Order: sequence, then C-alpha cells, then structure tokens
Amino acid sequence: MTGRIEPGTAAVTGATGFLGSRLCERLLEEGWTVRGLSRPSSDRGDLSDVDWFVGDIFDGETLRELVDGADAVFHLAGVGLWSAGPETVWAVNRDGTERVLEACRDGDVGRVVFTSTAGTRRPQGDDVFADETDVAEPIGAYQASKAEAAALVDRYADADGDAVTVHPTSIFGPGDEAFTAQLLSMGVDRTMPAHLPGGLSIVGVSDVVDGLLAAAGRGTSGDHYILGGENLTYDSAVSRIANAVDGSPARIRVPATAIHAAGPVAEVVDAVADRRVFPFDRDMARLATRRLFYSSKKASEELGYEYRPLEAHLPETMAWYRTAVR
Ligand SMILES: NC(=O)c1ccc[n+]([C@@H]2O[C@H](COP(=O)([O-])OP(=O)(O)OC[C@H]3O[C@@H](n4cnc5c(N)ncnc54)[C@H](OP(=O)(O)O)[C@@H]3O)[C@@H](O)[C@H]2O)c1
Repeated sequence: MTGRIEPGTAAVTGATGFLGSRLCERLLEEGWTVRGLSRPSSDRGDLSDVDWFVGDIFDGETLRELVDGADAVFHLAGVGLWSAGPETVWAVNRDGTERVLEACRDGDVGRVVFTSTAGTRRPQGDDVFADETDVAEPIGAYQASKAEAAALVDRYADADGDAVTVHPTSIFGPGDEAFTAQLLSMGVDRTMPAHLPGGLSIVGVSDVVDGLLAAAGRGTSGDHYILGGENLTYDSAVSRIANAVDGSPARIRVPATAIHAAGPVAEVVDAVADRRVFPFDRDMARLATRRLFYSSKKASEELGYEYRPLEAHLPETMAWYRTAVR
C-alpha cells in the first residue's frame, strides 16, 4: 500500500465504533499517539493505549482538547437510521461535524479526514458505476445530513483549512452487528428466507482503514474519494458467502415489487411503534432494489488505494460472527 503518512498524533472521533476502533488499532500499530473521543457510556473494548477524551460530539471544550496539536483528525463519529431517529441523525452527523470543524479552526491542527458515505453519490442515467462526480439527491436524513456535513468540510478546506472527505461503501468486517451480521446470516443460515434484488459495493474494514490513512497522507485538500470494494449483486454476495462457509443453500428470491411494498408498511409500523423498526421508508426501499455500484478509480490512482475480494475478509469476520453473534 502506498500513500503512507508518517506517524504523529491522531485525534479520532467515533473511536469506539466499528470502523473507528479498527482505525485506532492500526494507528497504534504504526506508532501513532492516538487520542480518541469517547462518550462516558461508550464501550472502549481493548483500546487501552488510546488516550481517551471523554465527552459528546457537541462538547466544544472536549473537542478543542482532543484536536489541538493533532497532525491528523479523523472525524468518524456518526449515526444512521438503524440506531436513531432523524433528529439525532441530523444533530450528530451535521451539527457534530460543525462542532468538530469549529474546534479545528480554534486549534493547531493538521489534516482533517471526514468520513461521509458513498450514499451521497449514485449511478446516473444508464451508467453502471457512480464516481465522486455523481452527486445524488439525498434520500433520507442519513444521506442528507452526510451531504450537508461534507459541504461544511469543503467550506473549511476552501477557507484555508486542510481537509479531505472519504465515501466508504458498505463496510464488511468483525464487530459490525448491522450490515455485516445481516449479510452473513443470509449466507450462513439456510432458514433465512431471502435476499434483496439489487446490488452493492462491499468493502472490507481493513481496506477502508488503509484508505483513511492514504487520504490523510496523499489526498488533495477539498477533494472527495470513494473507498469502495467489490461490486456484487446481493445474489452473488450471499452465494459467495454460502460457498465459502457452508456449501450453497437454496434460497427464495424476494421480488422487487415486494421490497417496494415494504416501504409504506415500514412507515406505518415506525409511526405506530414510535421508533424506527425498519430503517427505510418508501424511497429507501426502492433504493434497495437497485444496483448501487461504485468506482474507486480516483482513490486508486491518487491515493494508491486497493481493495481485496470479499473472501479475503471472510475468515476473521466469520470467526467473530460465530463467537459474538451466533
Ligand atoms: N458501516 C458502514 O457500512 C459505513 C459506510 C459508510 C460510511 N460510514 C460512516 O463511517 C463512520 C463510522 O461508522 P461505523 O460503522 O463505525 O459506525 P458505529 O459503529 O455506529 O460507530 C459510530 C461511532 O460514533 C460515535 N457517536 C455516535 N453518536 C455520538 C455522539 N453524540 N457523540 C460522540 N460520539 C458519537 C459512537 O460512539 P458510541 O460508541 O458511544 O456509540 C461510535 O464511536 C460513520 O460516520 C458512518 O456514517 C459507515
């Protein structure tokens, strides 16, 4: 992997999360001094060598202490509609990013690397792949808040700050009880009824960590980089997991019309239960039936970014799944 950055002091928000904890491990292995933001309630796992700064993403004083003197600030803290309602999603993703940038402006800070999502881009017209230029109309609070946060980061870079934005696709790896566990359960559990039509780009968590470090070292300030992986239909992703793990189980395909119909049902259930049981509304359900494929060409050419196939990430992810999930 090219594009390495010399170890120094890193400040990491979202350090206790799926991606952030893996980033912290790598930074420590490479000799960085690592400062991590942690809420009082956060599970800090095995990261005892991280210097923890305890507070919330809205706690300006803690953020200033966290970032001042850091050579690189990795801003990963964020929430999705899986775990929070739209108000919290907006507050953490957009307003939280604003607070982090304010703290960076006030301090002596090197490069900021902001983690957005590939979801703010989509293939246009008949194109098969989306790249960084394919800015999409956001669907839902998660994409919209990430798009606005990225605009704040762009403005920070324009006004003499040093900042890049990365857009990971669907991240696969140990510790992710959302997407990864669901995908694995579809491949492993022969009683799981079905999978979605459509497709996605699946990227291993270790490859995203490589990309974050490469963006810190070689990215151009103000630029955006998609950090994707293999583009796979759900069908082939699930089959490949099943083949690698257990042999190939028979499955029933859910027709696109059924997924489309799930949208309005989900809206009603969410409203009645007063919480988000399903992570999608009508528009998001429609999205799940599309092939959302991404090109990582820019990151590859400019950052030396590389990704590995799904199978390369399976052994450690399956080992985690077997012990932690089922
Ligand atoms: N996973 C994916 O497939 C994917 C794809 C594209 C982009 N991303 C983005 O990558 C980033 C990391 O994702 P992830 O999958 O690692 O998510 P995650 O496991 O849910 O971790 C989120 C992190 O944000 C922290 N956080 C949430 N609300 C906070 C608040 N109010 N104050 C301070 N910290 C707060 C969490 O702290 P606690 O430990 O206290 O909860 C946790 O450390 C996110 O910005 C996400 O949007 C993820």
